[in-house]
Amino acid sequence: MSEGHEIDNLLHEDRHFAPTRDFSAQAIAQPTLYQEAKDNRLEFWANQARYLDWAKPFTEILDWSNPPFAKWFADGELNVSYNCLDRHVEAGNGNRVAVYFEGEPGDSREITYAELTTQVKKAANVLISMGIKAGDRVAIYMPMIPEAVVAMQAVARIGAVHSVIFGGFSAESLSSRIEDAQAKLVITADGGYRKGKASALKPAVDAALSGGRCPSVDNVLVFKRTNQEVGWVEGRDVDFNLAMAEASDEHVAQAFPAEQPLFILYTSGTTGQPKGILHTSGGYLTQASYTHKNVFDLHPETDVYWCTADIGWITGHSYVAYGPLANGASQVIYEGTPETPDWGRWWSIVQKYGVSILYTAPTAIRSFMKMGSQVPNQYNLSTIRVLGSVGEPINPEAWMWYRKVIGGGHAPIVDTWWQTETGAIMISPLPGITSLKPGSAQIPLPGIEVEILDDEGAVLGRNHAGLLAITEPWPSMLRGIWGDPERFVETYWSKFEGVYFAGDGAKWDEDGDLWLLGRVDDVMNVSGHRLSTAEIESALVSHEFVAEAAVVGAKDETTGQAVVAFVILRQNQLEKAGSDADVSKILRDHVTKEIGPIARPRTIMVVAELPKTRSGKIMRRLLRDVAEDRPIGDVTTLADTAVMDIISGKVAAGASD
Ligand code: PRX
Repeated sequence: MSEGHEIDNLLHEDRHFAPTRDFSAQAIAQPTLYQEAKDNRLEFWANQARYLDWAKPFTEILDWSNPPFAKWFADGELNVSYNCLDRHVEAGNGNRVAVYFEGEPGDSREITYAELTTQVKKAANVLISMGIKAGDRVAIYMPMIPEAVVAMQAVARIGAVHSVIFGGFSAESLSSRIEDAQAKLVITADGGYRKGKASALKPAVDAALSGGRCPSVDNVLVFKRTNQEVGWVEGRDVDFNLAMAEASDEHVAQAFPAEQPLFILYTSGTTGQPKGILHTSGGYLTQASYTHKNVFDLHPETDVYWCTADIGWITGHSYVAYGPLANGASQVIYEGTPETPDWGRWWSIVQKYGVSILYTAPTAIRSFMKMGSQVPNQYNLSTIRVLGSVGEPINPEAWMWYRKVIGGGHAPIVDTWWQTETGAIMISPLPGITSLKPGSAQIPLPGIEVEILDDEGAVLGRNHAGLLAITEPWPSMLRGIWGDPERFVETYWSKFEGVYFAGDGAKWDEDGDLWLLGRVDDVMNVSGHRLSTAEIESALVSHEFVAEAAVVGAKDETTGQAVVAFVILRQNQLEKAGSDADVSKILRDHVTKEIGPIARPRTIMVVAELPKTRSGKIMRRLLRDVAEDRPIGDVTTLADTAVMDIISGKVAAGASD
């Protein structure tokens, strides 16, 4: 693990922040959790599951007789949406605010648990009236508005399976995900507000379904958010607002088996084809709610919680749509971008709603750092008492800034490591218990077992960088890759026998705290979003200009990594296009069209050849060095000799992949 060794020397952190006595005294998580989990791990998880309401209590905890296909609480039955909504109303908390919605233009709404329950019941009735049944797949392509959560909850309520596709993905990406899941229905909106204007979503759905593609789709349910003009296909498209107005608000949630599929979420892997990660109901909700409560120290009666993730990502599933609702939390949902109308927007929201728990990504923190402390300092952030970080390693500088400027110098920071596949947080300090160390995700949560292994699977001790593996099944683990059980086994369970291979490098430091060292495969992490080098390469070579492409994630001060593409062009095609063609822009636009703006390369470098090993493997390590050596800029130089000189210089100097 050469990569790990490089970072190895940099990781040494002496700062510790012990919990204050006051915080510990009121903390939800108690140190006994660790002991309970150690004494009897399965019973510990069963106890966490019992915080949920089971229509039929489970008697089995884990069935691991056919690894890696796990079943948790398999003979139990529950309704996920009932657990997130009705039961809070029945317990007398119907008037508690479930969602404080802040639209980007400044419109706002407060939705109580009673109101949200009614909305979800109506939406469930709309879905039923459209012929959606338990097990059917429903694609959701929505902006960050409460109706997105209503849609997810309504799908869950009737035992159907949602596949949320991030609004930043293109029509092409949408189409392939709808096809793969064979979705019967698409729930979308005319558009949403982003960066000060109404941006459209419905046209991408129309394009995704055009030309006879996605024949599985019978209907498109369209929520009117912006009231912009949209195309309308009679007989296929249904007005969500009208349908809701007419729907009955009576719906009794039926219980489903614990292993009823809940959702599919596509994520990038090492090949060109995204994987549909499958999660089921009882185990997923158990771990989402257990982690949400303990990791964020949630006091549902008094806290105002805000996770800034979009519902298009796993964080928006577990820590917006499910965990907080299962726990009866009051949460903020914000539609727009952090810089609209200015960089004070988030902090004005914290001030307005008295946010006490904030969960966001290091990229955002670094962007705020760059803008300067004077922006957040203009707002009253004194309500903040817990801060969370997710999606990528948080560097100690950003950690310190986050604590000092946003957390008033005292809020504990929980650096949470997990993945789309793990479904919920796996490694994190517990506030009130753990003495915090900037930059480290620290220790596995009670109930989670991890090891760091070398390439041969031997367990590594402290101060050795290796591969992160999860050695025991956990309730919210992925149950498979949609339609591809072989790929599931191959990707996660074949590197080490019977052990889950996460794809991350890691090491324990001398205190036994865990440091994440980034991906060890060809998956990039840009702004905490997962992108596959292979997927972007295949988008690039699908353009007529490109003969060959290699994509790497180069270090980037703000976004963690940035997409840099090296391309060999087809001269004859270029000549046809004319000498003034802006190749870089054309190719970057092409990737945006094929995958979405998040995959748009920061830099395209045109080269005459790509450095390869004798076996023909592209030497990515070397390309990454080249990309990181070069000044940042979106410049392209045809047959860039400078780049080629660097490449050949490095090859001559014996660099290897
Ligand atoms: O490399 C790890 C990184 O994000 C990957 C998972 O990406 P995704 O499935 O999109 O889920 C992101 C949100 C949970 C991991 O393999 N990652 C996630 N959290 C951290 C992290 N790297 C370091 N520290 C973290 N806290």
